[in-house]
Amino acid sequence: MIKFLDLQKINLLHQEEIEERLLKVFRSGWYLLGEEVKEFEKNLSEYIGAKHAIGTANGLDALRLIFKAYIELGYMQPGDEVIVPANTYIASLLAITDNDLIPVLVEPDLNTYNIDIKLIEEKISSKTKAIMIVHLYGQVVFNDQLKILAHKHDLKLIEDNAQAIGAEWQGKKTGTLGDAAGFSFYPGKNLGALGDAGAVTTNNDELAKAIRALANYGSEEKYINKYQGLNSRLDEIQAAVLDVKLKYLDSENNKRREIAQYYIDTITNPLIKLPEIPADKNSHVWHLFVILTQDRNRLQQYLAENDIQTLIHYPVPPHKQEAYAQLNQLSLPITEQIHNEVLSLPISPVLTEKEIKKVVDTINNYK
Ligand SMILES: Cc1ncc(COP(=O)(O)O)c(C=O)c1O
Repeated sequence: MIKFLDLQKINLLHQEEIEERLLKVFRSGWYLLGEEVKEFEKNLSEYIGAKHAIGTANGLDALRLIFKAYIELGYMQPGDEVIVPANTYIASLLAITDNDLIPVLVEPDLNTYNIDIKLIEEKISSKTKAIMIVHLYGQVVFNDQLKILAHKHDLKLIEDNAQAIGAEWQGKKTGTLGDAAGFSFYPGKNLGALGDAGAVTTNNDELAKAIRALANYGSEEKYINKYQGLNSRLDEIQAAVLDVKLKYLDSENNKRREIAQYYIDTITNPLIKLPEIPADKNSHVWHLFVILTQDRNRLQQYLAENDIQTLIHYPVPPHKQEAYAQLNQLSLPITEQIHNEVLSLPISPVLTEKEIKKVVDTINNYK
């Protein structure tokens, strides 16, 4: 069976180093807000090129905390609107609605799966306070037009960078393109922990200070509470693992790029629409390799019969979820087409040449 993602194999690549760091944390007797988190935050902020990196318990919390901080600091208030791509993972919306903000959904571009920047301006109202861009599947969505638009309407630009750590736009890493960014280190992400973990990056001192406090019960000083905060801290164990794996992220992302290039060069089946390699190769880290095909479930079944595991990201769009009944009536045909037709092929730094070839041959033999 070719696994969609062999997490055990991915982590065993760094077994010795990870085990050594884990043992160090175990023996230290200090498990929260200690040296490992400090070290990882420093290395992450340097890697991303952001002034601040703040560890959080997971990626959803990272995004929730950004909005919560903007509300506490008076830049937004409940009832304000946030523009967000309609085909994103549900967590992007949850971060908005959990803060009593209103998500305004914008259709994606079918070629990149990312928000169609041209469609944003018509959705801006007097209540709009932010645009949340999501670098979906690992591909950057950003351009000068977006920067100008955010500036012109005085909107905060928030990056959901859960899927694109290491990707770059004109040499700048995602996580530095807007005002603040949320990262996920869910185990299956390109930089994955051994459990839940996340982070926020920003260059804004005021925002960073508020987020750090909000993630720790709203407290800047022990037992003194400035805000009604959350408990959303990155633990020492996860920070230690992430700090080891961060060193290998670029080479692992390059491995993903090679596999993507190989798939694109060799999959020739006309029933399959392949993603494109962007002109700037660094603008994609191929968290997922997502194809489109009309009879998606039949292809998935055929691949499973041939011992190839695939996944669907995602089968039901946010506006069709029971959780968002107020959005159920929206008509978003491109988003709906994507959710009906997408299939994610195996891609990871531990796939072997033999496995990659088998995926290609099997897909090319599909009729
Ligand atoms: C686009 C996107 N946003 C947010 C999240 C939330 O991250 P987490 O699972 O770490 O809470 C995820 C990952 O699951 C994601 O893919």
